[in-house]
Amino acid sequence: MTSRLFAPIEIGGMVFDNRIAVAPMCQYSADDGSATDWHIQHWMNLALSGAGMVTVEATGVERRGRITHGCLGIYSDDNEATIGRGIAAARRVAPAGTRFGIQLAHAGRKASTQRPWEGGGPLTEHEDPWPTIAPSAIAFADKWHVPKAMDHHDIRRVTDAFVAAAKRAERAGFDFVELHGAHGYLMHEFLSPLSNKREDEYGGPLENRMRFILDIARAVRAALPARMMLGARLSASDWVEGGFVPEEAVQVARALKAEGVAYICSSSGGNSPHQKIPTGPGYQVHFAELIRREAGIATRAVGLIDDPLQAEAIIAGEKADFVALARAMLADPRWPWRAAAMLGARFHAPVQYQRSVGTMEHWGKAQAAREKSGAA
Ligand SMILES: Cc1cc2nc3c(=O)[nH]c(=O)nc-3n(C[C@H](O)[C@H](O)[C@H](O)COP(=O)(O)O)c2cc1C
Repeated sequence: MTSRLFAPIEIGGMVFDNRIAVAPMCQYSADDGSATDWHIQHWMNLALSGAGMVTVEATGVERRGRITHGCLGIYSDDNEATIGRGIAAARRVAPAGTRFGIQLAHAGRKASTQRPWEGGGPLTEHEDPWPTIAPSAIAFADKWHVPKAMDHHDIRRVTDAFVAAAKRAERAGFDFVELHGAHGYLMHEFLSPLSNKREDEYGGPLENRMRFILDIARAVRAALPARMMLGARLSASDWVEGGFVPEEAVQVARALKAEGVAYICSSSGGNSPHQKIPTGPGYQVHFAELIRREAGIATRAVGLIDDPLQAEAIIAGEKADFVALARAMLADPRWPWRAAAMLGARFHAPVQYQRSVGTMEHWGKAQAAREKSGAA
């Protein structure tokens, strides 16, 4: 059997060695937006994994667009330099052909919060909070900061910040940029009728609610060289009555494609504390499949994909073009090696670790045999 998970693919003029992606994951370990030693070890570790696509965490395009005091940013020269150094180090240990991208983000009304291990709630007055912005002056939840409704000047400033951040990402050495349009952050807040109650050309019908993300996609695409790919992550459903729905995500994906966006990572939720998400293995794959089929754009599936045979089936069944793994990659950064061993594909251990290849193949075959016999 030839593995589809390990088949190369060309998207947005860029070739990827395989379909495995490391999902963007905040580390809450930055210093005023700048990368630290933690990021360097984290990126080098993930670079060794052999995943064809590595996307760096949600990175604030302006200081107030960070989620927490520890979030990565790309709004200063120091941010750009430290991120650039980390990515250069990661590239030096990655298999040739690994593509590195950065997720550009603005946290909107979900900015100014504590790191998860500090509680994850809104910053209190003793924790140096900052004013937040959103399409409408509606707090995410009870006791959260009430954001300022953005005026046209704010919209212009944030769009310009995305462009400036994209140019910094190019200089820092990334291959692609991903716009964070998911999880209840600023672009999603504009898309969702739960958080967008505007009465101007940015609110009301979907055509207006998607104006903000389309403006940003157009401006960022124009600012990036053609060799750099642009993608986007969307929450395909708010999982709340009266919220953003998958059919709208299809229309947004179509419009983004027309602006030169090459793929959609189909996530969901994050914009309401009342969401009811039916989680389970691959619970968001059907969104990737729907958007891929209806909008004719490459998709990346994400969410509880942690088994190599499950990942292979998603790609072989043409439900998505990539699978992205988050928690499984933290738990086992050698996941792609193990998947390759199970699926009979080649994997790229660095020469220094060559003597582990036989061990990995032994583990991979044993696991595949267990899964086949139904014992796993
Ligand atoms: C530690 C951690 C940090 C995350 N940070 C981000 C982020 O920066 N941007 C984003 O879009 N999603 C983020 N997510 C969500 C993941 O990218 C992913 O969509 C989610 O965890 C589901 O995938 P999984 O089941 O493979 O973990 C994060 C998840 C984790 C576990």
